[in-house]
Amino acid sequence: NNTVDNAVENWQGCPQIVDAAQLLRDGEVVAFPTETVYGLGANALSDDAVEKIFLAKGRPADNPLIVHVADEAQLQTVAEAVSDKARRLMEAFWPGPLTLILPKTDRVASLVTAGLNTVGVRMPDHPAALALIRQAGVPVAAPSANRSGRPSPTTAAHVLTDLDGRIAGVLDGGPTGVGVESTVIDVTVEPPIILRPGGVTREQLEAVIGPVELDPAFSAGSAETPRSPGMKYAHYAPEGEMWLVEGEEPRVREKMNGMLAEAKRRGLRTGVLASAETASYWQAHPEADVVLSVGSRAEPGEVAQRLYAVLRQFDERQVQFIVGETFPRSGLGMAVMNRLEKAAGGRILSV
Ligand code: TXA
Ligand code: MG
Repeated sequence: NNTVDNAVENWQGCPQIVDAAQLLRDGEVVAFPTETVYGLGANALSDDAVEKIFLAKGRPADNPLIVHVADEAQLQTVAEAVSDKARRLMEAFWPGPLTLILPKTDRVASLVTAGLNTVGVRMPDHPAALALIRQAGVPVAAPSANRSGRPSPTTAAHVLTDLDGRIAGVLDGGPTGVGVESTVIDVTVEPPIILRPGGVTREQLEAVIGPVELDPAFSAGSAETPRSPGMKYAHYAPEGEMWLVEGEEPRVREKMNGMLAEAKRRGLRTGVLASAETASYWQAHPEADVVLSVGSRAEPGEVAQRLYAVLRQFDERQVQFIVGETFPRSGLGMAVMNRLEKAAGGRILSV
């Protein structure tokens, strides 16, 4: 596609890209924008470089990283084999928010895969990311560029809040578009299984390759250990204690009212994570100190895009107790609700 190529070429000439690519070749870590969230990149073929990612983030060593590629040759460098279904998914969704779990080659640094014999690979749909990876000339391992446990960064400012002084630099490409991370799908098993819901929906995947399963650990109340190592960790959490209330109106509103009153009695600064539909009601509420809307219930894409910035704003405004609404789980809503449930540490009340 010509427009994409031009955008990549425009970035490629930029001094910031040239400098960042040089840092990657020198074995340093650099944060960069993708279409989902900002990533913290290092040369995926070097254990010394990749170790710096784990140190900067405070990331547990058993949690593997996604490798970002800009072309077919880089894919071949890290993936041993690409099945027919994997190839069809790449054709349909790359560049884009889809990570494929594939058999790895022995060129991938062992820290990247945390000792597994598979590697997660994706081609990001962002001209700055593609220009950077091309210019670096190596596949780039990159988790989200947040301190481990924090909401993922959707702006360069979020990256600096978490990692300033711990990384060589951040390439600023403005706010990210999708807002939640890529979908992770394991295509080494049959049927393929979604390990993490994300920017590409289950419906979209099934339209291309037929039935795909969902990691059973995602179903409500499941005690199963997630198959993706990263999914077992607490994540995305704001500093305040967060609760979600799920059910039908007006019971949700009544329950949230009671919880806010109780939190105020405990002397806490309160916040409400609202939708565009309910924001004005909560803004007029005397016991809601900070009310933030993540967008319309009818627009899961909008909610995904704003979610992490809103979670971070509760911290910036020193909110100690947050109560949030839930959102429809269809389409991108599945990823949104997965992140919200993790942000709330599983504290969900059904009314
Ligand atoms: O959108 C994204 O995917 C962003 C941007 C920067 O590309 N990256 C990202 O990376 O979210 P990270 O490290 O925060 O999440 C990677 C997820 C983790 O849940 C990890 O456990 C899983 O992918 N993962 C990576 N390699 C895997 C493998 N070989 N097998 C199973 N899960 C894997
Ligand atoms: Mg992450």
